[in-house]
Amino acid sequence: MVDLSDELKRAKVLVEKGLERYSIADSPMDNGRCPNRLAQAMRYSLMAGGKRLRPILAIWSAEACGVSGDQAMPVAVALEMIHTYSLIHDDLPAMDDDDLRRGMPTCHKAYDEATAILAGDGLLTLAFEVVAREQKPLDVVGECVQILADAAGPCGMVAGQMADLAAEDRTDSNLEELEAIHRRKTGALLCAALRLGATVAKASDEQKDALERYGWSVGLAFQVVDDLLDATGDEAKMGKRVGKDSGLGKWTYPGLIGVESSRAHARTLADSAISALNIFDERADRLRALAHQIVERDH
Ligand code: IPE
Ligand code: IPE
Ligand code: MG
Ligand code: MG
Ligand code: MG
Repeated sequence: MVDLSDELKRAKVLVEKGLERYSIADSPMDNGRCPNRLAQAMRYSLMAGGKRLRPILAIWSAEACGVSGDQAMPVAVALEMIHTYSLIHDDLPAMDDDDLRRGMPTCHKAYDEATAILAGDGLLTLAFEVVAREQKPLDVVGECVQILADAAGPCGMVAGQMADLAAEDRTDSNLEELEAIHRRKTGALLCAALRLGATVAKASDEQKDALERYGWSVGLAFQVVDDLLDATGDEAKMGKRVGKDSGLGKWTYPGLIGVESSRAHARTLADSAISALNIFDERADRLRALAHQIVERDH
């Protein structure tokens, strides 16, 4: 059996190093072209902690396909930059209006709204620069860019965020539409992590397909649990406000089907994620264990 919490700690240390390496040194942020306040705001949110789940998934996906996780570090870093940008914008007054993130004041509270918008813009763009400049082998770069843009862009995460806001306070909530929102706003980027790991490893189509199926299941489960933790979680552990979704009129799994059914649904999704990995050997054990952890997490 893998000791998942040990493995997660080790992976997180590597990701933090990767973030330092690719986001600050060797980038325009390092040579004075990026305005100091903007560079500081980007760094403030990026280095504030967080579980680093998406980069870890990318690295473990590459390793499940038999290459060293280091090979996936540029795409892993890019995923975390895009995810952090999505959080900065998600917290803005015009969106979820939050004042606490990763245990610290949100970017617009620590700086100001305009700087937070631009810090998000900066991180999104820098992510693509990191992939274009640093990802090897060169013949996978185009596919990586496509996967990232598709997952993060106007048919992926941004579409999900738009639909999430548009659904607020609508009384005709239904499970099918809620699932479509969650798959796009959160599932797409998580799934991209698995696809990117497989792509840099030049995995077979069968392996890519299996990892993608794992990614969609885990990605949806992750947002179901995020909804659950908003309803039942602990603010100090989460490092963000809880109990906000119902006040904002958000559609959530516990809001639609209740806490117990949501938990059961998340567990079923974790089981499907694990079954999708049947073709892999023990190199996918950490991904298997992580699927359970995502559902049982408390932050
Ligand atoms: C929070 O993501 C936003 C969602 C997509 C649900 P995480 O729970 O992964 O946040 P961090 O990165 O650990 O702060
Ligand atoms: C956020 O969903 C999804 C993205 C940031 C794309 P939530 O709005 O539920 O995330 P939290 O709860 O604020 O972290
Ligand atoms: Mg939101
Ligand atoms: Mg939010
Ligand atoms: Mg939430």
